[in-house]
This record gives sequence, structure tokens and C-alpha cells, in this order.
Amino acid sequence: MPRDSVKIGLLGMGTVGGGVAALLARSDGLLRERTDIDFVIKRVLVRDPSRKRAVELPPSVFTTAAADVLDDPEIDVVVELIGGIEPARTYITAALQRGKYVVTANKDLMAQHGAELLELARRFNRNIFYEAAVGGGIPLLRPLKHCLVANRIKRIIGIINGTTNYILTRMSQDDMEFDAALAQAQALGFAEADPANDLDGLDAAYKLAILAGLAFHSRIDAGAIFVQGIRDVTRQDIHYARDLGYTVKLLALGERCGCDRVGDTLALRVHPTLVPLDHPLAAVHNEFNAVFLEGDAVGEVMLYGRGAGAAPTASAVLADLVDAARCLRSELENGVMESKFKPEALLPMSALSSRFYLRLLASDRPGVFGALATAFGDEQISLDMIIQKRSEAGVAEIVLVTHQVSEENFSRALKRVTALPAIQPRYSIFRVLS
Ligand code: NDP
Ligand code: HSE
Repeated sequence: MPRDSVKIGLLGMGTVGGGVAALLARSDGLLRERTDIDFVIKRVLVRDPSRKRAVELPPSVFTTAAADVLDDPEIDVVVELIGGIEPARTYITAALQRGKYVVTANKDLMAQHGAELLELARRFNRNIFYEAAVGGGIPLLRPLKHCLVANRIKRIIGIINGTTNYILTRMSQDDMEFDAALAQAQALGFAEADPANDLDGLDAAYKLAILAGLAFHSRIDAGAIFVQGIRDVTRQDIHYARDLGYTVKLLALGERCGCDRVGDTLALRVHPTLVPLDHPLAAVHNEFNAVFLEGDAVGEVMLYGRGAGAAPTASAVLADLVDAARCLRSELENGVMESKFKPEALLPMSALSSRFYLRLLASDRPGVFGALATAFGDEQISLDMIIQKRSEAGVAEIVLVTHQVSEENFSRALKRVTALPAIQPRYSIFRVLS
């Protein structure tokens, strides 16, 4: 069999780019043995060529001019590991127009502009491989595209952000402060360049848009996904949740629902969730991710592994590189299946129902429980548990968990409750996994 050489242009060599170069150096013999292909990093685009890198490459490989990568006719595959929308979008567009295959780990870009970029790839008879964009090293997109293609997927439930799962785990297991746990996640290379996307749930929403697109064969508007991040989760809530038999996780949920009002449609949301301690997702700790899928034929499937970090993510990037090389050698069909997906509206949050956890601070005086019960009762909300946790300086902490209730009714009841003179304006509210 002929031994080919595939020349790579790396855009970015930070956490993931460094991991790719390191794994390529480490697994060079292995990949050559398995594919008969030499993978060679020809040029690397960075901002600061003087920065120390995870792997030493000849200084002449580094450049700060994108054209040195994009206009080099010898470069077959461009691997985009800069992140964010621009200049990544412009560079990927240019790479496809010059006939190069593209590999990327960029969920922000694929969730928001994936449809247009994949269409461009199809027009130029090329493809974009983005396995690393969701779940780091866990094979998620290929199983959805290939192994589960004969299923109608009913439901996805996932922990798909390593940074927030790391923070919640450290807060829960070590009683660590939020900021200290975030600093550790950043030092370990899990967090985005701007960790706001992790903390505010946007990173998980982008990944959910990608996953749900492939699971439900639809074009998802990532901006329409309901998102609540983890900034409001306190150690106190984590303690109370544990007392009640739950742990707190940032979940991404996708479901195809039949709804009387709007017919068969999709509901997608990301929010901190109380997960029962005996649920398998409660045992997913640190930067690990897990995704539950339910297909009509296969039943339940759970995929689990490291969702962030240099080496796990590099593992997915190299797999994509191998697929791109196989397309170049015509060993793989170059089909862009996403081109067939049609846009699909999402069900508004107000049309869904949930169980809720609510922690309130109230003046410790007679009649408060009664007023709460009336506000909830009037909105047809039945309470599963209600506990007065503590009373200090005349202020009582009340924690309650509802049964399954309509989101609309709950927000009306919450408005009434927080307007009561005895209730303080600060409260915590999280959904509970049924
Ligand atoms: P880093 O911030 O560690 O690295 C970014 C790299 O891009 C750096 O080498 C930087 O150069 C370079 N860069 C940034 N802006 C420019 C620019 N304008 N022009 C040229 N080069 C630029 O990011 P990560 O490696 O963590 O993430 C890369 C991508 O992978 C992102 O899309 C991220 O979401 C995704 N991802 C990250 C994971 C992780 O665990 N970290 C896991 C899965 C996906 P310089 O080094 O000179 O500053
Ligand atoms: N910041 C992301 C996370 C990296 O923490 O999950 C992996 O996509």
C-alpha cells in the first residue's frame, strides 16, 4: 500500500493545539502503522511565536500571518484551534475555498455558523470534521451520525461542560469556594479563553445545539435554547441538595415532545439541576462528561469520558485528521449529511413542566408558611417537601421542592411569593431531574 504524507496547517497552538502536536509526536509510529500515512505539521499560526509551547517545533514552522497556512498549496488539512467566531470563521472559509479539509474543536463557531460552513464545504467537495467540539475525547458525533442513524432519538440528557462540572464537584466534595475551583479548572486547561461561556452555560448550549442537530436531524438555532448558568449555585444549596438526596449538575437536556398547543416539536435547555444521588449522572465528576441518549430501537445509551483537557481533546482531533486524510485518499465517502437538515423551531420554556427547588429567606414570624402555601396552592402547585432549615437573627431559611408543575404556573407563583413582605429578595431556584 502506498505511504502518503498529509501536511497539516495548525491554526492555534494553545491547550488543544499543544495537545495535538504532543499526541502526534507520541503516536506518530502508531498512526503511520495503522493508516500508512505520515502526518506532518507544516505551519502553525499563533499570536506570539516567542511563547513556550507544549512541544518544541522548529521556529520556522511558526507564523503570525494566516496566509502562510491558508495559501500554502502543500497544506492538505487546516486544523482550527483558535476558538471563538472571528478570525476562525474567515480562516475556515478561506481554507475550504482553497480546497483544504478542515478539522475544528470550535463549538461556538459550529453551533452558530456550522450550517453555512458545512454548505460551503459541500460546494467545494470538502468537509469539516468537528468531533472534538462536543465532549472532548468522548466519541459522540460519529455514533450519532453513523451508529445510531436508524433510530429516532427521543431524548438527550448530558453533562457536557467540563469546567462547570469540575467546579461543582470541587464545591461539593471539598467544600471549595467557587472562585478557587474556577482557578483550578483554568490552570488545568479546561476553561474557555473567556470562562464566562462555561459559567453562563453558553458553552453547553452550543454543544447541545450541535448534538441535538445530529440527534434530531434538524438545524438548531443555538440562540433559542433556554440557558441558566452556575454562577448562582452556592455551597449552601449544594449542602441542602445533598441533605435532600441530590447533587447539583449543569445539565443539557433535549427532548422531542408531542405538545397539544404546537404539535410535535423540540425542547432544548441548559440549567443547573438537582440530580438524584442514585442516578448515573450523579457519579460523573470533575472534568468528565456523560451523555444519555434514548433511541426508539436501541433504547438507552450512555457515553462517558473526559470532556476537556489537552490529551483527550487531541485524541478526537487526531481521529478527525485521519478521516480527513482518508477522504483525501478517496477511502472514505465525503458526504456532508448535515446539508439535509431543515430548521426546526424550539418549544418555549413556558410550555414545559419541571420540578423545582427553591431556597428563600423569610422573616421568622407566624403566617409565613401559610402565605407560601396559599401562593403555591392558588397556582395548582403541589409541594413535595418544605423545610425550615435555620433561624438566625429573626430570619428563617426555607427550602422547598415541588412536584412536576408547569413552568408558567411556577413563575407566576414565584412572583407572588417574592412579593410577600416577609420574603427577602435573594433566593435560589433550580430545576430537579425527575
Ligand atoms: P487556547 O486559548 O489555549 O489556545 C488558543 C490558541 O490560538 C493559542 O495558541 C493562540 O496563540 C491562538 N490564537 C488566538 N487568537 C488568535 C488569532 N487572532 N490569530 C492567531 N492565533 C490566535 O485555547 P484552547 O486550546 O483551550 O481551545 C481551542 C479550541 O478548542 C476552542 O474552540 C475551544 O473551545 C476548543 N476546545 C477546548 C477544549 C479544552 O479542554 N481546552 C476541549 C474541547 C474543545 P498564542 O498561543 O500565541 O496566544
Ligand atoms: N471549556 C470546555 C469545557 C472545554 O469546560 O467543557 C471542552 O469543550
